[in-house]
Amino acid sequence: MYANPAEAPQRAPVTLPQLREKKRKGEKIVVVTAYDASFAAQTDAAGIDVVLVGDSLGMVVQGQATTLPVTLDHMVYHSAAVARGLRSALLIADMPFMTYASPERAYEGAARLMGEGGAAMVKIEGAVWTNEIIARLSERDVPVCAHLGLTPQSVHKLGGYRVQGRDRVQADHLLREALNVAQAGAELLVLECVPAALAARITAEIPIPTIGIGAGVDCDGQVLVMYDLLGITPGKRPRFTKDFLVGRGSVVEALSAYASAVRSGEFPALEHSF
Ligand code: KIV
Repeated sequence: MYANPAEAPQRAPVTLPQLREKKRKGEKIVVVTAYDASFAAQTDAAGIDVVLVGDSLGMVVQGQATTLPVTLDHMVYHSAAVARGLRSALLIADMPFMTYASPERAYEGAARLMGEGGAAMVKIEGAVWTNEIIARLSERDVPVCAHLGLTPQSVHKLGGYRVQGRDRVQADHLLREALNVAQAGAELLVLECVPAALAARITAEIPIPTIGIGAGVDCDGQVLVMYDLLGITPGKRPRFTKDFLVGRGSVVEALSAYASAVRSGEFPALEHSF
């Protein structure tokens, strides 16, 4: 383990075909959020596969109550900072609320996140109407990560941050949505706050890797918000998080422990799942 990222051995850049291969082989994909160059360098030193510049930065960095006030300029700024700190992990950047409401806006946003922000992939939340956006971006060679289940940009419509897909009808609906985003061209799917059994079913039935957060251990990979993983997010901690800094002496040790726990299937445990 290398406390100084400059001393860590150089890894080859992580690519999308490698993530697909991991799903095929049953190897877990380790994802964490980062918002600046210094934390990005720590993720590389810990051997994290994918770094997400999440619009969660609105809440954990800016102190907003939701992710809705995050703008494309904010995302480009933070994505570029993270890109400067990364050498190997694949970089995904979130498209903020309403910046992909039409194909034209989505093209502009993706061009900025990939061109100025250095992202290799963009993430968009939601189903049905997003299928067209996913297809249009994908046919223009913009890799897209879809995001279903609890989609924080829909917090007002959902009426709060709640587990999604609990009953049979909702679960079948979510499975259909997952098949549809994959069919539209999404290359990865984040599943947030869905029952573990449903996430396992979706993971088995769709051809693209699933990345869970509050979605049980059977997803193809896991993502955590960096500040949750380090136990520094103020306020009540969601059930699906774990403070990996407890008992460890540095950020890189905490990130490495998270990566090992995901790869061995030790995290998430039942107590972190629904
Ligand atoms: O914004 C974010 O950090 C996210 C993850 C929680 C998946 O979307």
